[in-house]
Amino acid sequence: MRPDAMEEFGSGIQQAVLAGGSASGRLAEDVRWGLSQPRKQLHSQYLYDSLGSRLFEAICALPEYRVTQAEQKLLDRYSNLIVSDLEGPVTLVELGPGSGEKLAQLIEPLLRNNIGVNVELVDISEAALDLATRTLTRFPSVPVFCHEAVYLDGLQRSIKRRHDAGSLLVAFLGSSLGNFAPSSAHTFLSNIQTVLRAGDRFLLGLDLVKPEQELTLAYDDPLGVTAAFNRNILVRLNRELAADFDLEWFGHRVIWNFASSSIEMYLESLCEQKVSIPGADCQIRFKEGEYIWTESSYKYTTSQIVSAGMESGFATRGQWVDEEVKFAVTAFEVL
Ligand code: AVI
Repeated sequence: MRPDAMEEFGSGIQQAVLAGGSASGRLAEDVRWGLSQPRKQLHSQYLYDSLGSRLFEAICALPEYRVTQAEQKLLDRYSNLIVSDLEGPVTLVELGPGSGEKLAQLIEPLLRNNIGVNVELVDISEAALDLATRTLTRFPSVPVFCHEAVYLDGLQRSIKRRHDAGSLLVAFLGSSLGNFAPSSAHTFLSNIQTVLRAGDRFLLGLDLVKPEQELTLAYDDPLGVTAAFNRNILVRLNRELAADFDLEWFGHRVIWNFASSSIEMYLESLCEQKVSIPGADCQIRFKEGEYIWTESSYKYTTSQIVSAGMESGFATRGQWVDEEVKFAVTAFEVL
């Protein structure tokens, strides 16, 4: 696996499954590879087991992590406008739907205007799809179809199910694109644009650059929820690969990388130690102070978002910004 393409692990997992490889075999292979690199790393995809997903939901409720609240506030205020000129029936596709609450905010104004809606949810996690589907049961007239797939595959499957008439809006919210390295983000946006057709919409929620102190607090909260989220990846390796990581000897570290405009999350070995990972057939030595890279979260400026969309072949229809939190929702259209 390539260090700068960590964000592509998700697709890799799916490809392994499709190619007949097991997800646990892929985890073992990725862990062995990642921990034998000069810069030790574990892909952020593996943060999201069932406990990790719940810890992430808890992060979203933290006062220091304002991404979710800011996005919800923007959708509360502007979802009317965002969907105002969509012709019915509307196919809403959400890539990585989380709790489904944000999609609900887009559905409400459409139903209020008697526009028919059908929903396609895409996620590699069945648990995530279940959670969002449960939220959307509050709209009995809206059919919800789930695709347990990587984003692009799921989007292609969703598109095959669209109505010939009407509109299509793809939502990619929660700053998930921020976890892609910039080059992967660009490729991803271009791939999305390619599978859409003229008039289709793409709604992107992304966190913006802000003062370092606010960012480090958001990713290293005083309650220690993000630390638990980060260290849970080791709990997962202990459980799934029979590893013997001693959690007491790994600390949560967060660094603002000014040059790449990203918050980097690490686990620091607090002593010299050796860890056995029988399920990945390896033993890993750590020096005191050595880091394992677990996640990068890139922060954008509003104009970088518009440029990224344009370079991928989209036209910008609107951008709504929470100036206090510094978060943007941008609506693109395929010309
Ligand atoms: C899912 N993703 C957008 C989150 C982020 O902000 O990068 C994951 C996260 N990691 C720590 N806190 C939140």
